[in-house]
Amino acid sequence: MNLVELAEKVYWVGVVDWNLRDFHGYETRRGTTYNAYLVVDAKTALVDTVKYPFKTSLADNIRRVTSLENLDYVIVNHVEMDHSSSLSYIMQHAKNATIVTSRRGKAGLVKYYGENEWNFQIVKTGDELSLGNRTLRFVEAPMLHWPDSMFTYLQEDKILMPNDAFGQHLATSQRFDDEVDQAVLMDEAAKYYANILMPFASLIIRKIEELPKLNINPRIIAPSHGVIWRSHPSKIVNAYLEWSKGKTSNKAVIVYDTMWGSTQKMAMAICDAIAEKGIEVHVYQMRRSDFAEILKEILEAKAVIVGSPTVNGSMFQTISAFLRYVTGLKPKGKIWAVFGSYGWGGGAVRAMTEHLKTAGFEVLEPGLQVQYAPTLEELGKCRELGEKIVNQIQA
Ligand code: FEO
Repeated sequence: MNLVELAEKVYWVGVVDWNLRDFHGYETRRGTTYNAYLVVDAKTALVDTVKYPFKTSLADNIRRVTSLENLDYVIVNHVEMDHSSSLSYIMQHAKNATIVTSRRGKAGLVKYYGENEWNFQIVKTGDELSLGNRTLRFVEAPMLHWPDSMFTYLQEDKILMPNDAFGQHLATSQRFDDEVDQAVLMDEAAKYYANILMPFASLIIRKIEELPKLNINPRIIAPSHGVIWRSHPSKIVNAYLEWSKGKTSNKAVIVYDTMWGSTQKMAMAICDAIAEKGIEVHVYQMRRSDFAEILKEILEAKAVIVGSPTVNGSMFQTISAFLRYVTGLKPKGKIWAVFGSYGWGGGAVRAMTEHLKTAGFEVLEPGLQVQYAPTLEELGKCRELGEKIVNQIQA
């Protein structure tokens, strides 16, 4: 791959992981990249490393510019292993390098990789590091998305390296936003936000508002995953603001599972009633679907309707896992409803309702349940539920 320059003597030295399909449970159908950047000046700084299996590729990319022994600084914006697990390998060669990280970053690195003979420089928001003609500035970004997270800003070139923020799990041969299909790019950016950053919406808004006050107005946003926003950095910043403020469209998502088809029939009747009113609706059978993909659709949906048959007096196992996942991600401002079928005692609808209410979500009550298989009359009740949801979406 050609050496990629973001600005004069600012290089992308990361790697493309074409074959990643599971990122700690997040289904990554389009792979990912681990981006690292090399800034060459009187002093040379490497910003972040890559996932361990790619350590020699990172080293080879750096060596196309300079030797590892010439590294003066290794900036660690985030200790999660996809960005730091090559650090030990790099530091074996970069004997003179100082690791620059946040206080929590150092604590995380010591816990993961043990006490080493590494030199650390702890930085906090507003601190600067001169490389000669150019300056790195640091902004702590706790919980975006780990406590140690930090942004690095290359002041003179106006390049913001915010690590995980503004990323996408997208493996491509292109490195820049203007080189890829925009629909695919925003699809992956939305999926990434929904599955990784959504719980921290209020912190995101505050951090985005803080940057101009620190005189950080990036011309380029270079995240640690996916393509670099060089032509339209405001596109992803505005999208993050909208998502964080709970922007929704007139869209419903139905997530269900089924044992013998009864809950599925209910799901289809609800779907038909919503679609017939001209509202976009997406339907997922949970055990055939990706969590990450569903969360991406939920991000901008106004209504989420969850269906489960009763198993052992409670929810079907895939729906239980889904509800734990989705409530942990704290999507804002949705209309929630539940439905399901049962054989004798019931329990799924009650368990789903209780789970959602305990997590602080408002649920339409009572949930809709039918015994064994839905009759025509009961399918009519399902349609009524769909129409009620449409009314709420349009209210
Ligand atoms: Fe890309 Fe939080 O790691």
